[in-house]
Amino acid sequence: MNGQSVTKERTPGERAAKQRATGVQGIRESAATEPTKTMASADPVLEVDGLSVVYESNGQLANAVNDVSFTVNQGQIVGLVGESGSGKSTLAYAIMRLLPANALVADGSVRIMGEDVYRMSDEQLRSTRWKRFSMVFQSALVALNPVLTIEWQFMEMFRIHRPDMSRAEARRHIVGLMELVRIHPDRLKTYPHELSGGMRQRIIIAMAIALDPDLVIMDEPTTALDSVVQRDILLEIRRIQQSRKFSVLFISHDLRLVQFLCHEIGVMYAGRMVESGPTSAIKAAGLHHPYTEGLIAATPTLAKRDRALLQGIGGQPPDLTRLPGGCAFHPRCPIARPVCKSTAPGRVTVGELNMLCHRTGFDE
Ligand SMILES: Nc1ncnc2c1ncn2[C@@H]1O[C@H](COP(=O)(O)OP(=O)(O)OP(=O)(O)O)[C@@H](O)[C@H]1O
Ligand code: SF4
Ligand SMILES: [Mg+2]
Repeated sequence: MNGQSVTKERTPGERAAKQRATGVQGIRESAATEPTKTMASADPVLEVDGLSVVYESNGQLANAVNDVSFTVNQGQIVGLVGESGSGKSTLAYAIMRLLPANALVADGSVRIMGEDVYRMSDEQLRSTRWKRFSMVFQSALVALNPVLTIEWQFMEMFRIHRPDMSRAEARRHIVGLMELVRIHPDRLKTYPHELSGGMRQRIIIAMAIALDPDLVIMDEPTTALDSVVQRDILLEIRRIQQSRKFSVLFISHDLRLVQFLCHEIGVMYAGRMVESGPTSAIKAAGLHHPYTEGLIAATPTLAKRDRALLQGIGGQPPDLTRLPGGCAFHPRCPIARPVCKSTAPGRVTVGELNMLCHRTGFDE
C-alpha cells in the first residue's frame, strides 16, 4: 500500500520477540537524523516495555496507560504527543516511580540505564532519581517555592543530593548552570515572582539538569508561555541537550513543538501508543494512523495559517473507565469499518512507522 511495505505484528509478545531477535531499539526501526542531527547512539537510556497503569477512583478503574513500549537511546530526544487525558503525564510519573497512591502499575517494566526502576529499593531510588533521571513537571511554573530565593533552592538541592560538595563548590556549579541557561548569576538573589515566566522556566530546566542526569523528562515545559518565549525555550533545550548530551522524553499536546524538537515521536490515544516512528516519517505524506492524520490536519503550518483550512478531530476522547470495544478510536474514526468495532487492532509496521490499526487490511 502506497508503495510502503506492511508487516503485521499481532501481539505485544510477538513484537517484543521480534525486537529481541533483530536487536531493534527505539520506537522505530531505523536511525534518523530529523529534525536536528541526532547524536544518539544505540545505547538505551530508557526502556519502557508493555507498561500499563490503572487508576482506581470511586470504585472505578481507568486504564490510563495501556501496553506502552518504547526506548529512548543515548543523546536522543523522543516526543510523546496526544490530546488531553491520553495518559502522557501518567506515563511520565510511572517512569519516575512517582505515581499517586490510587495508581497501580498493572503490567510491564521501566528500565533506566538497564536498571529496573520498580525493582530498586527506596534507598536506591532516592540516590538515583534526579541524579540519573529527572523531570520538569507540567505545573513547573508553580514548582518554585515563592518565599525562597533561587540560590537557596539550588543550594538545598545540592545539600540533599551532593553532600560531598562544599558550599563554595556548589555555588560555582550553580553559577555555571545559570550561565548555561543564559541568566545572569545576579538573579540568584531574587525570588521567583521577580522573574518572567520564561526565566523561571529556564531555571527549572537548569534544576532538572543540575545533577547531570542521563535522562530528563519534560512534561509540557512550554505550555504556559507565549509562542515567542516558547520557541526560545525549545531552542535552549536543544542547545543544552546537545552540549550536555543527555536524553530527553519531551511531552506535549502540540504536534508542531514535538516535530520541531524531537528525533522520534510516539502518538498517544486513550492510553495507547497508536503510532510511532522517526519525525521525518511522521511528517511525511503516506499511510498514518487515522488519529495522527487528525492531529496533522488540526495543526497549523505556514500553508494552513487560514483557520478555515484547519480541521479538528470530531468527537471527544473516550471515558477511560469505559473504553469502546475493538479499537478505542472507532467512534471518532472517519474510516472505521465493522471490524474496528468488534476486534482490537494488532500492531503493524509500515515502512519506518509502527501503528495500531486495522487499516492496512482494508481494500482502499
Ligand atoms: N490521580 C488520578 N486519579 C484518577 N484518575 C487520574 C488521576 N490522574 C489522572 N487521571 C486520569 O488518567 C487519564 C490520563 O491522565 P493524564 O494526566 O496522564 O493525561 P495527559 O495526557 O497528561 O493529559 P494533559 O494533556 O491534560 O496533561 C485521564 O483520564 C485522567 O483523568
Ligand atoms: S482500527 Fe479502524 S477505527 Fe481504529 S484507527 Fe484504524 S481504521 Fe480507525
Ligand atoms: Mg499531562
